[in-house]
Amino acid sequence: MGKVRIPLFAHRGVSGRFPENTMEAFEASRRAGVSGIELDVQLTKDGTVVIIHDETVNCTTNGHGYVKDLTDQEIFKLDAGSWFHLNFSGAKIPTLEEFFSWAVQENNQLIINIELKNDVVNYKGLEEKVIALIEQYDLEDRIILSSFNWESLRKVRDLKPVIEIALLVKGINEEAIAEAKALYAKALHTEISFARSEYGKIACEEGLLLRIYTINDGRDIQSLPVEVDCIMTDFPERFTFKQSI
Ligand code: G3P
Ligand code: CA
Repeated sequence: MGKVRIPLFAHRGVSGRFPENTMEAFEASRRAGVSGIELDVQLTKDGTVVIIHDETVNCTTNGHGYVKDLTDQEIFKLDAGSWFHLNFSGAKIPTLEEFFSWAVQENNQLIINIELKNDVVNYKGLEEKVIALIEQYDLEDRIILSSFNWESLRKVRDLKPVIEIALLVKGINEEAIAEAKALYAKALHTEISFARSEYGKIACEEGLLLRIYTINDGRDIQSLPVEVDCIMTDFPERFTFKQSI
């Protein structure tokens, strides 16, 4: 396993060793000494911003159904840890507010990359709610908002220009660079195939940063033709010499 020194974002927290998108996985990220955390947000039936990757709770909890169809009460009683390992039984789906309360504690300077998961379900008002929480916790300068839904990023740009946005790109998408420039995005969050393609080089020449998801083996980023700004990983300990978690 290749060891590299490069800024790391813990993908869904340290999701290789802890249940993804839980406070347990985020706390492990802080201990691991990464630069930032990537997490995913959706809206409950009550309109609360919660941290979960899938549009349904089926895979990562003991419950069933779409997040958008479940009330806060139904969401908060779910066990989001046992599916991963019984040691984590009782872990909860966190709200973004709960995460922010943790993120503003002393000794926590982590960059927070929030993926707006509105490319499958169209969550009305998600952008406004996330921005309101960022303002409430005064976290504007530590946040990167990303999404596969570029229209949603356009909305963020209009609502709150000061917040950094990054376009999420699947595979090799030829339109990504022009769109990023049009939206004044600082970075593309891409797969390794994009970074290896001619577009990776063009993006860098255009002054865009490349952050690569999701890399769990250092060999995958060896001999890259471009310099990347960050990699997102489920296993930060494979890439750093920092204290063990
Ligand atoms: O934000 C990068 C990456 O997390 C996007 O893919 O499916 O893991 O949310 P996914
Ligand atoms: Ca994500």
